Order: sequence, then C-alpha cells, then structure tokens
Amino acid sequence: MAGGAIVNTAGGKDYPGKLTLFVFLTCVVAATGGLIFGYDIGISGGVTSMDPFLKKFFPEVFRKKQEAKTNQYCKYDNQLLQTFTSSLYLAALVSSFFAATVTRVMGRKWSMFGGGLTFLIGAALNGAAQNVAMLIVGRILLGVGVGFANQSVPVYLSEMAPARLRGMLNIGFQLMITIGILAAELINYGTNKIKAGYGWRVSLALAAVPAGIITLGSLFLPDTPNSLLERGHADEARRMLRRIRGTEDIGEEYADLVAASDEARQVRHPWRNILKRRYRAQLTMAIMIPFFQQLTGINVIMFYAPVLFETLGFKGDASLMSSVITGLVNVFATVVSVFTVDRLGRRMLFLQGGAQMFVCQMVVGTLIAIKFGTSGIGDMPKGYAAAVVLFICIYVAGFAWSWGPLGWLVPSEIFPLEIRPAGQSINVSVNMLFTFCIAQAFLTMLCHLKFGLFYFFGGWVVIMTIFIALFLPETKNVPIEEMVLIWKSHWFWKKFIADEDVHVGGNHLQMANNGKGADA
Ligand code: BGC
Repeated sequence: MAGGAIVNTAGGKDYPGKLTLFVFLTCVVAATGGLIFGYDIGISGGVTSMDPFLKKFFPEVFRKKQEAKTNQYCKYDNQLLQTFTSSLYLAALVSSFFAATVTRVMGRKWSMFGGGLTFLIGAALNGAAQNVAMLIVGRILLGVGVGFANQSVPVYLSEMAPARLRGMLNIGFQLMITIGILAAELINYGTNKIKAGYGWRVSLALAAVPAGIITLGSLFLPDTPNSLLERGHADEARRMLRRIRGTEDIGEEYADLVAASDEARQVRHPWRNILKRRYRAQLTMAIMIPFFQQLTGINVIMFYAPVLFETLGFKGDASLMSSVITGLVNVFATVVSVFTVDRLGRRMLFLQGGAQMFVCQMVVGTLIAIKFGTSGIGDMPKGYAAAVVLFICIYVAGFAWSWGPLGWLVPSEIFPLEIRPAGQSINVSVNMLFTFCIAQAFLTMLCHLKFGLFYFFGGWVVIMTIFIALFLPETKNVPIEEMVLIWKSHWFWKKFIADEDVHVGGNHLQMANNGKGADA
C-alpha cells in the first residue's frame, strides 16, 4: 500500500519537451560540481596512510604504525588524524546554511561559482601546508566549497531536467562524485611512489583541477527557469524554459512554475515555513535520507579503504590498489542507476540496494571475525583477503546504485519551490554532520567494535530499508512542481496536507485525492 501504486495517480502526466543538447550540456557542466566533493572523499584516506605525511604531521601515528605487534584494529586510532579528515565536513555543514540564502537570492549558478572559488584557495593552502594548522584551515575552505556546491548542484539539475529524465540527469552529480573519488585514489597510488616524499603535496594540490573546472564552468551556466521566476524575471524564465525543453509548447509547465513561484514569493521565512505541518513529509525525508545514507557505513570504505585494507594485512601498495578497485566498482555501479532510475523507480533501487548491502556486511563482518577475532591479531591468507575485497565490492555496488545517488536525488526533487533551498541545506548539513561523525569516529569504532562494526552498519541498513518501504512514495516521472500530489495520495503523509495546501498550475487535485478523500 505504501508507495508503488501511487505513481500513476499523480505521475501519469508529463509536460511536452525532449532532452535538448543544451540541457544535456548544462547538466554535465553543473554536475562537475560533484568532482570536488568526490576528490576530497577519495584523497584523505590515501594521504593519511602515506609515511612522509604521517612523519611530518602525525609522528605519533607513524611510530605506532611501525610497532609490529600493535593490535590491527587500533593502530590508526588518533583524534588529530581524524580531525584532518573530518574538519572539512563540519565546515560544509555550516556553510550550506549560508549557501541556502545565496542560492535563493542570487540563483543556483553563483552559489556554484562561490563554491568552486573557495575550494580553489583551500587546495592551494593544503598543497603548501607547513603545519597541521595550515592543513586544517585548508580543509575548512575546501569544506565551504563543498557546502556551496552540494547545496546548489542537485537542485539545479532537478530543475533543469525534464521530469521524465530527472533521475538520470540528477545522478550525473553522483557520477561525478564517484569519478572524483576514483581520480583521487589513482592519484594517491601514483604520488605514493614519489621517492622524495612530497607525494602527499601533489595529491592535495591537485584538488585545484576539479575546482577550476566548476569555477569556470559555472560562469557559462544559465540559471534555471524556476529560480529566474522566483527572482522576478518572468520573461527570461519563459524564454529559458522554451530553450531547455526545445518546444514552444510549455504552457502547462510554465503555469505550474508560476503557481510555485507565487507561492514562494509569499514566503518570507523559508526556515520557519518548513516547520509547518504540511511540509512534515518533506522535512522528515530531508533529515532521514542523508542520515541513513551515512549510516550505510559507505564512508568507512571511501575514507579509510587504504587504512582498512592495511588493517586486513595488505601491504601499503596493495592496499591502495584495492581501494582503486572499489573506486572503479563505485563508478560503474553508479552508471547502472543512471539508466534504471527513471524506469525502475527510486523505491526499487533503494530496496534492492539495501538487501545487497546487508548481506555483504554480514559476510565481511564474519570473515574478519574468523581471522582476527576480538584480539585483532592474526594473518589473512591471500585468497581469503581476496574474498573480503570481493564482498566489499559487491557492497559498494549496492550502495552505488541506491543510497549513493538517491541520497542526493530524492531530497532535491521533493521540496516545493518556496522551501527548496532551505530543504536542501537541511539535507546537505545532516549529510555532512553524519559524514563528520563517521570520519571522526571510524578509527576509534574499529578499535572498539572490531569486526562488529560491519554488523552495526548492517543493522542500520535493515532499519532504513523498512523506512523506505513504508514511508517513501515513488517520485519517478512526477513533475517537480507537482510533487505535492504524491504526498497527498500517500497512505501516511496525506493526513498532514489539507486540500487547500495543494496549489499546482493545472487542476490535478482530484487526481491526487483519487476518490479516497483526504482527512486533513
Ligand atoms: C555520499 C558520500 C559517499 C559517496 C560515495 C555520496 O553520495 O554522500 O558520503 O562518500 O556517495 O560514492
């Protein structure tokens, strides 16, 4: 009863328009905003396992690493080292609140530009770092950049895309994230071989490349019709809509946009507004989806894959190589979702991906338990270690076609215009908060929970999968400014939405009620 059947009720109609080359290109450029986030995620794990880097900034960790008999689970447990990784996410969390205002008042484009520029400065500072303070200030600037980009890019993509292809185009963002991660891992693999010991500098400074791409790229991007209209540029909005849909026949979609922007203009305080009863469903999703995305445990692999593989007994080079493999799986599995998300729908991917991740987590936890037990001392034969890597890869694939892309897609498409930037910044900041917690706590958790860490995240995957099954309606193919109809016909959320809260351009209310009668 939850979800599935509702699709055709409200989502049966589509606006005319095709995927124009113009939209495709703008979406590709905007999606490159994902590169900076991905590069960051991928770079820190490798850098923090490089000896020259540890010797210079974290000598104590280096010493511990040398002691042969140290407990495998605990050798990297160090607060300052974790702060290096996690400070970025704290900065991103705070900055996404400012980014919400920039995105609303100045448009999505300038938010992306600002993000790219700040990131560029952060990269320079990091590459030239002489002490831990410089490292961390650099990371903070990178974080501000990520906050701005993750705030504006997903919303931009969802507004530009025709409803029918919104999933596919939006996932361009996640695809760029995974490409960024992979590029970072490959670069680490190469720079680790630099004998003179400055490889880590090259790794950190190269973050300037993706930053340059989005900074320059954003200058060429047009603003979305939704944002133009909201800022009072009606003619331009209409022209832009015609251009991106490649047709003159935009009447109905334009009417929906106007209705949405009229509504938006009456709202002075999006932050207060979002707390209203009628937005309860969207607010819940903006908090729970990013929270759950992080509780899949994916970033344990993304940040610390080299460290994790070293813990499992791989030598330095082999462990970087193994994380390159998981990086490749991550990219390819994301492509799967690009082509299925608008056909199979969001729910199907969420549920299938969840089941796959759960099984793998149980297997990996058990394999590690058998070899390392609770003492953390032991050895893994080659074949055995290969099996661990294999299941980690299957797990990563499950994430990459479910919670990875959908964690960004779904929140960006469910908010009505008047609270969209506010909603998105809740999404970004909750995501960053829990990314931060995991980055900060993982090495300590590994040290204490040991193999149980995998069971811990597996348990969360069960909970989130049930949550989706019950509470998330299918949103594929539903025009973004008509999303309210989806909630209005959901078995649980409909009671939060009164009939008079449903304003769309056409008269679709009846369709949403669908004879069931809303008890608002
Ligand atoms: C998540 C990141 C994660 C990445 C992995 C993103 O959707 O937000 O935290 O590292 O996917 O590909």
